[in-house]
Amino acid sequence: MSLTPQFLDELRARTPLSTLIGKTVKLQKAGREYRACCPFHNEKTPSFYVNDDKGFYHCFGCSAHGDAIRWMTEQRGLPFIDAVKELAQAAGLEMPAMDRQAAEKAERAKGLHEAMADAAQCFTERLNGIEGAEARAVLKRRGITEETARAFGLGFSPDSRGKLRQALADYGDAMLVEAGLLIQVDEKEPYDRFRGRLMIPIRDVRGRTIAFGGRVIGDGEPKYLNSPETPLFDKGRTLYNLDRAQAAARKAGRVIAVEGYMDVIALAQAGFDEAVAPLGTAMTEHQLERLWRMVEIPLLCFDGDSAGQKAALRAAHRALPHIQPGRSLAFVTLPEGMDPDDLVRTQGRAAFEALLGKAQPLVDRLWASEVAAEPLETPEAKAGLKRRLAELAGTIAEPSVRTEYTAEFRRRFDTLFASPPREYRPRAASGPRPRGGWKPPEPPPSVAVRGVQSGGLDPILAKAVLAGLIRHPAEIARHMEVLGSLRSASGALGKLFEAVVDVALADRQLDSGKVLTILARSGFDTVATDLLRADALPFSFTRHDADAAKARDDLNEAIAVMVAQPVVDAALAAATAALSRDGSEEAFTRQVALSRQRQELQARLANLMLADDEQNDD
Ligand code: UTP
Ligand code: MN
Repeated sequence: MSLTPQFLDELRARTPLSTLIGKTVKLQKAGREYRACCPFHNEKTPSFYVNDDKGFYHCFGCSAHGDAIRWMTEQRGLPFIDAVKELAQAAGLEMPAMDRQAAEKAERAKGLHEAMADAAQCFTERLNGIEGAEARAVLKRRGITEETARAFGLGFSPDSRGKLRQALADYGDAMLVEAGLLIQVDEKEPYDRFRGRLMIPIRDVRGRTIAFGGRVIGDGEPKYLNSPETPLFDKGRTLYNLDRAQAAARKAGRVIAVEGYMDVIALAQAGFDEAVAPLGTAMTEHQLERLWRMVEIPLLCFDGDSAGQKAALRAAHRALPHIQPGRSLAFVTLPEGMDPDDLVRTQGRAAFEALLGKAQPLVDRLWASEVAAEPLETPEAKAGLKRRLAELAGTIAEPSVRTEYTAEFRRRFDTLFASPPREYRPRAASGPRPRGGWKPPEPPPSVAVRGVQSGGLDPILAKAVLAGLIRHPAEIARHMEVLGSLRSASGALGKLFEAVVDVALADRQLDSGKVLTILARSGFDTVATDLLRADALPFSFTRHDADAAKARDDLNEAIAVMVAQPVVDAALAAATAALSRDGSEEAFTRQVALSRQRQELQARLANLMLADDEQNDD
């Protein structure tokens, strides 16, 4: 099945959004848009808008946002694939055929879902039965009410190797092993994975149980035993309590990521329904993306011990490359030795609320950790700090945030080491253009940069950039790293980039004439003359008569676009393949985001092209 961006665009184009939404929400015409009270949160005055031209809805109250497909998944609660099917049918579009493998996979997943649902029910019954007395006592001691236990579907697995296997015998051992409910070693008899544990179902966004966490009753090792990865359960892409937290997060305008299941449960009972937790592993990029889809600045509230604080810092570093204007993280610090569960239990809701109010912005957390990393008494140590800060800022993919971080760190650094007044202090060089070289965006995790960058260059743009570099050789040095990475690009262009870099490496005092001579000497004479004719290309930096500063700026931008394009293209192809393979909403979201990134790159490129009247004679 191939759910290409083209197919989905066609689907969107054929689906008038106001008609679709109008089926369930009363819309009022408001200029070119429609307005309504938002179906995603409680409100009295309408802040929900539907725009048919743009094909999306947006709520200014709770930030709910999406297109026709998103409407079907979020508001109607349909699985992504079903949403597409239903819209396609309504629009009279034929669905791309599903291949046999995908159909089989879907069939098998259905069986696994049912087995997990039955297992969850089994565990709950046991918790409420005679066997569950001790587990119920544990819950009581922890202050967890029956109502909370019900809301989270808590259960109990008796200390037996075969009770679950027996109860779910209809599914057969093979499926129960695949679901992670049974363990089978070699050819031996399979047995229950979870024995004598408080069972915590882990649910997907739609509330289906896809895994379990099992806490030992009393003391014992391991404290938590979790389901293995299964076709239903991908640890790094799941957040505990996402199903319940999503709506709550919209309403509260905030989401809190904590470390443990029990923290989430205790917070919910204290009235904080908007808490989620990773599943015993470090926070992944996927999980961060999930959080960012709910709110712009998720709060991280990890345990107040050194492990928790290390984990928080790790999340900060992982998030940094992906922050955007407005989109960040903030950190809530708990008293030493406490976790959120301890805090709300012993100090109550208000105390936790107060801590949330004092959340520390990402920039502060990073700064503080770097400054505290080592004593700063020697020039070497200071320079080390300066470099680490610059490197951190340099990992941010989004250029305007990267610029702000670089500047902010520099300001803080200068203030920290400010000399007493009146003493001579050289100003930070405000030379011609202090900006750093462009770095390609962090590639999506599944795509290796190297693989992406070979080939896929836009040949006209690459040629224009080469011509630009020959005209402005000083720029070569600033982009050495990026340009060097293009040497693996296919064909003559790649070789030419390599040659240009080599020339600049050999001689830092280059002028255009020298570059051309050396290139010609290295066998690039025809290409070089060809490039001179590139004066006909519609860019400031390929022209001999352009304003030098503008030409250099444009050239920088062109290099940024040129390098980013193949990365985005490859990622888009990968996302399209993933979407076609598993039809997941995750892949869909990714594809949409990448399509947009692609359009943005196109727009940036178009921006660089000179209008006809800016080009003269030749
Ligand atoms: P914690 O050890 O902080 O648990 O682990 P907790 O939430 O405070 O639990 P209680 O209060 O002692 O019952 C936090 C998370 O780390 C994972 C689990 O996801 C847990 O919720 N973890 C912890 C494991 O996966 N295995 C373990 O053995 C321990
Ligand atoms: Mn705890």
